[in-house]
Amino acid sequence: MADPQLFLPFRLRDLEVRNRLWVSPMCQYSVSAGDGVPTDWHLLHYGALARGGAGLVMMEATAVRAEGRISPRDLGLWDDAQIPAFARIAELAHAHGARIGVQLGHAGRKASTHPWLPGAPSGTVAAAEGGWPTVGASAVAFGELATPRALEAAELPGIVAAFVAAAGRAVRAGLDVVEVHAAHGYLLHSFLSPFSNRRTDDFGGELAGRARLLREVVRGIRGAHPELPIVVRVSATEWTAGGFSLEECAELAAWLADDGADLIDASSGANLPHAPIPVGPAYQVPLAAELRRGPLPVGTVGMITAAAQAESILATGQADVVSVGRPLLADPQLPLRWAHELRAPSAAELVPGPYHRARFGAAG
Ligand SMILES: Cc1cc2nc3c(=O)[nH]c(=O)nc-3n(C[C@H](O)[C@H](O)[C@H](O)COP(=O)(O)O)c2cc1C
Repeated sequence: MADPQLFLPFRLRDLEVRNRLWVSPMCQYSVSAGDGVPTDWHLLHYGALARGGAGLVMMEATAVRAEGRISPRDLGLWDDAQIPAFARIAELAHAHGARIGVQLGHAGRKASTHPWLPGAPSGTVAAAEGGWPTVGASAVAFGELATPRALEAAELPGIVAAFVAAAGRAVRAGLDVVEVHAAHGYLLHSFLSPFSNRRTDDFGGELAGRARLLREVVRGIRGAHPELPIVVRVSATEWTAGGFSLEECAELAAWLADDGADLIDASSGANLPHAPIPVGPAYQVPLAAELRRGPLPVGTVGMITAAAQAESILATGQADVVSVGRPLLADPQLPLRWAHELRAPSAAELVPGPYHRARFGAAG
């Protein structure tokens, strides 16, 4: 039997990742101090995911500026004081053989919202409760959230510089990869979409204008860090006519290859509150398959819940890597189980030494 693709190493620029089953970035809303600094929860959570056998652990959306946090409880890399706690997590992940990256983002018009935690209210956090004014491509609100202030063109170099500086802090913390968050209606995605970008300057209009900010971010990071693997997460379609489309995304992906990106991570939607998203098993895989016709390797994500399903996505050439979210929250050791189910030669190697006697298939 051929080795399963899911557990073959993957090369991202010069970085070897032990397999193609990656942790999708997931906000933990666990920074109760509001200072963006990772806590014991993050150490436990990301440590468990690294120990669980995933190839690359992508840390959650991490703000490049304080006002770019989705909620007051988000992680941040806008200040050097945040670096040591990230470094401790990176060291722990490496000790377990995983690679670890961080998703860098600015929430734009979807910033300053209540954390998505049980019992928490939804919507914008009021100023009296620690919320802050939001900014966006244009003064167009997302659903019921507060209307953002349109960023002035003169402010945009500062946004690019914030992404580049945060990437530099990620490197100093020993993280292996950065993912630029250009999906889910956050700032960079809101520039890409004609629904949220009504600008008439160089950063609006045709795709070339709408894509300019994202491209400057990627070029900025690449220029400052020639060796750093850069993933870009996109919402590959808005599932709505007149929005940022899969065709536009394919064009964008080709430009991003020129700009120095290494992999496109294809999610979808979330820039419109009521888009008709056809949620179902592996529903975003066709988007990845289409983008894979372009120059960059592509990751897929979304309701991929079984080993054979993940393996067949790779074996049929629809994606290069599979990211998993919620199933890994439910079971951080899911890669160990999937490696056993797929009879991967590396299955036993993924099991931490102290747990070896309890590995799948062990007699005792
Ligand atoms: C608790 C939670 C937090 C999330 N936070 C992020 C995030 O920080 N960045 C992001 O791009 N996607 C985020 N997502 C989306 C996931 O990365 C993933 O794309 C989505 O859950 C679909 O994959 P799944 O079906 O395997 O969970 C989040 C999802 C969940 C469930």
